[in-house]
Amino acid sequence: MERYIRVFDTTLRDGEQSPGATLTSAEKLEIARVLARMRVDVIEAGFPAASQDDLQAVRRIALEVGNPAAGGDELGRTVPIICGLARASKNDIDAAWEAVRGAAHPRIHTFLATSPIHMRYKLRMDPEEVVERVKEMVGYARSLCEDIEFSPEDAGRSDPEFLYLVLGEAIKAGATTLNIPDTVGYTMPEEFEKLIAGIIANTDGIQNTIVSVHCHNDLGLATANTLAGIRAGARQVEVTVNGIGERAGNTSLEEVVMALHTRRAAYNLETGIETTQIARVSRMVSNYTGIPVQPNKAIVGANAFAHEAGIHQDGMLKNQMTYEIMRPETVGVSRSNLVLGKHSGRHALRTRLEELGYVLAQEQLDRVFERFKELADKKKTITDADLEALMEDQVYQLEEVFHLDGLQVACGTMGMPTATVRLQDPEGKLHIQASIGTGPVDATFKAIDTIVGAPNVLLEFNVHAVTEGIDAMGEVTVRLQATNGSSSLRTSPQSDQNRARTFGGYGADTDIIVASAKAYLAALNKLLVSTGRINPAGELTYVAPATSR
Ligand code: KIV
Ligand code: ZN
Repeated sequence: MERYIRVFDTTLRDGEQSPGATLTSAEKLEIARVLARMRVDVIEAGFPAASQDDLQAVRRIALEVGNPAAGGDELGRTVPIICGLARASKNDIDAAWEAVRGAAHPRIHTFLATSPIHMRYKLRMDPEEVVERVKEMVGYARSLCEDIEFSPEDAGRSDPEFLYLVLGEAIKAGATTLNIPDTVGYTMPEEFEKLIAGIIANTDGIQNTIVSVHCHNDLGLATANTLAGIRAGARQVEVTVNGIGERAGNTSLEEVVMALHTRRAAYNLETGIETTQIARVSRMVSNYTGIPVQPNKAIVGANAFAHEAGIHQDGMLKNQMTYEIMRPETVGVSRSNLVLGKHSGRHALRTRLEELGYVLAQEQLDRVFERFKELADKKKTITDADLEALMEDQVYQLEEVFHLDGLQVACGTMGMPTATVRLQDPEGKLHIQASIGTGPVDATFKAIDTIVGAPNVLLEFNVHAVTEGIDAMGEVTVRLQATNGSSSLRTSPQSDQNRARTFGGYGADTDIIVASAKAYLAALNKLLVSTGRINPAGELTYVAPATSR
């Protein structure tokens, strides 16, 4: 049997469906680029029928990342398949095709539920009608595109005999990949292995297709189930970076890839993933979505390679493999501590950033160098972790609409916490506002709100230190939701419901109030772009408030 496992990344579709993970088109494009660099085989770039914006975002990824002619892969290697999700309806399939057709390797992924509970209560369809719809819609998709994936939604709770029938019809109608989702994360690994083995043994024509698995983590079993599916013969895994996704999330890319990599002898299978990119992609997805990675998360958590207990450290010093089953460098986590300092020059900075995998244009390097110098004035030693935070704060802040130009805060046990904020709007005009609040962060956010004037509710605020020590940089992530306007709603492909979008932001600085202001502003900037108050080209539909000078 084939040894290659295809990695189908759905961070930009199922991952983005998770509460609070709204990404702008520019962020999606940037993530797609790093996924391609990490060598995923398929990028599910979105659900194009959700809105024109979603369609255009997938289209751009298809053209710019899925196309070698457009420089999609700077090393001239094969580009990933770009896939768009569609419900089993002509409108959705047309939208998906419109979005992906510009890619060198386009794929349409269509789905329809097959479990008794979904057919009865969600679809209100008889099993016979479901079979007919699958035949018709897979056939229609195949008339447009050569590469068709079909998923029987909620397969984990479907009758296996019915699945053999539906999947057999999907194959006859032209499906080339059959994806088996455990949509609600209900199955146990041994059950899922049996389900996949049964499908492979009993479905007509399945030997000429790729069987794929797509697991949700409601019982914390997504990775175990995915590996069980592989053992039964699945050769594509559907995953997301950091395991983000609906409810408890999807199978995490890093866990499956590193399980296969670390336990090669047990599985004798391989993926094409460039594992050294994992840590970086994880940070990028966390920062763009505003969803922090739990410290003890396997592979990418801050503590995944930390050894605190004395006995562990002693063992580690004698032989790293005593407590480490994989090397941090393999997933792109650097072991080196002291990197640069106050006297390091531009060349040293560029070299170290290149070693960390960041290749910068001159103008980007100039900006990072300026921030680096500021940081080196405040902090004696600058570690790789500091540089990573600086890069995300400085270079990967896309679509800056309002820019933080100045901030002054007075707080403590005496008097009222007061913040004075100076912002530059997209036309270059400065706005100054002073506000009082319950604390310095509250006062700062109030002042920003008065200037920006985008009503919202703050859902989450997280702060943590990048490195140890009193002079450490602080990283802040926030998530917020717009409180007015239907333009901040979006359709979920599976529930058909409109959900309020939430927006995440990230900021880093040695001053955590400054980091908080940057994170809040980053999230507000996304809200402004996504709700159409500022168009993506940066043109203003925004009316400056009376605080400008
Ligand atoms: O979980 C699920 O069933 C899905 C399908 C659309 C594949 O995400
Ligand atoms: Zn899913």
